[in-house]
Amino acid sequence: MPDNHDPLFSITEQSVLVAGGVGGLGWPIAQELCRRGARVAIADIDEAKTLDYAQSLVDRGGRALGIALDIVASASCEAAVQQVIQKWGRIDGVVNASGIYRVGPALELADIDWERSIDINLTGVFRLARAAGGPMIRQNRGSIITITSVSSSVANRHYAAYAASKAGAAHVTRVLATEWAASGVRVNALGPAVTPTPLATQIFDDPIIRDAALAKIPMSRFGTPEDLLAAIIFLLAPGSRFVTGQILYVDGGRTIS
Ligand SMILES: NC(=O)c1ccc[n+]([C@@H]2O[C@H](COP(=O)([O-])OP(=O)(O)OC[C@H]3O[C@@H](n4cnc5c(N)ncnc54)[C@H](O)[C@@H]3O)[C@@H](O)[C@H]2O)c1
Repeated sequence: MPDNHDPLFSITEQSVLVAGGVGGLGWPIAQELCRRGARVAIADIDEAKTLDYAQSLVDRGGRALGIALDIVASASCEAAVQQVIQKWGRIDGVVNASGIYRVGPALELADIDWERSIDINLTGVFRLARAAGGPMIRQNRGSIITITSVSSSVANRHYAAYAASKAGAAHVTRVLATEWAASGVRVNALGPAVTPTPLATQIFDDPIIRDAALAKIPMSRFGTPEDLLAAIIFLLAPGSRFVTGQILYVDGGRTIS
């Protein structure tokens, strides 16, 4: 596995847990971290896939571990963090790329869709950050990155549950950043625009919704998972040591339009 020799951006030897690690964004992120020499724990609700995907990284010469994680359970979050520490001695980074997407007109939005959105996209962000925060504070070092969304900032119709969960996740990021800054633990978030992944099929399957979403992006294209990689590496690496509590939008200008 090649290393990048620039110490500002080197993540070699870091132990990083990627939640939602088999998802459309999480898996490309996990692969890139591994390619750069990090030890990568792929954590997801789909345990069989985490084991398969981790094995495929090991087969390519990487250091990886598959972990079952249900982010709605605090014990599962704590167990996932402990597995990383048991395997590699420390946890340097968390990239939380788990999430669900439930949208619909507010008058028709079912309680269960609201509750699941908040439970996974907001409370799940808190649960996993809390589970990693303790060990990171004891190490005096760590970087927690949550994939939020442009919906942390903009209001799209039909997005009451999703946008509330993402705005909450962004603000939890800021609050945890203030609590843990003095301990050397940084907490940031990344806000992507619409990106073709399994989560966004509802958008891409409907040409009217797809074209309307595209029209709101000043750079006139959807995101790709690869668009996020440099920002993730930056937020994990030593070069971002004075960056905390930030929501970094990687969105082709969506949040300024
Ligand atoms: N794709 C987009 O357009 C887009 C845009 C902005 C933000 N995001 C956000 O990025 C994140 C990743 O999205 P994606 O596009 O990769 O979606 P995805 O559906 O491809 O991946 C999400 C992953 O989260 C996992 N997951 C769901 N519930 C879980 C739980 N209870 N515990 C653990 N894992 C669970 C799923 O198994 C899946 O692997 C989400 O938070 C999403 O809201 C996505």
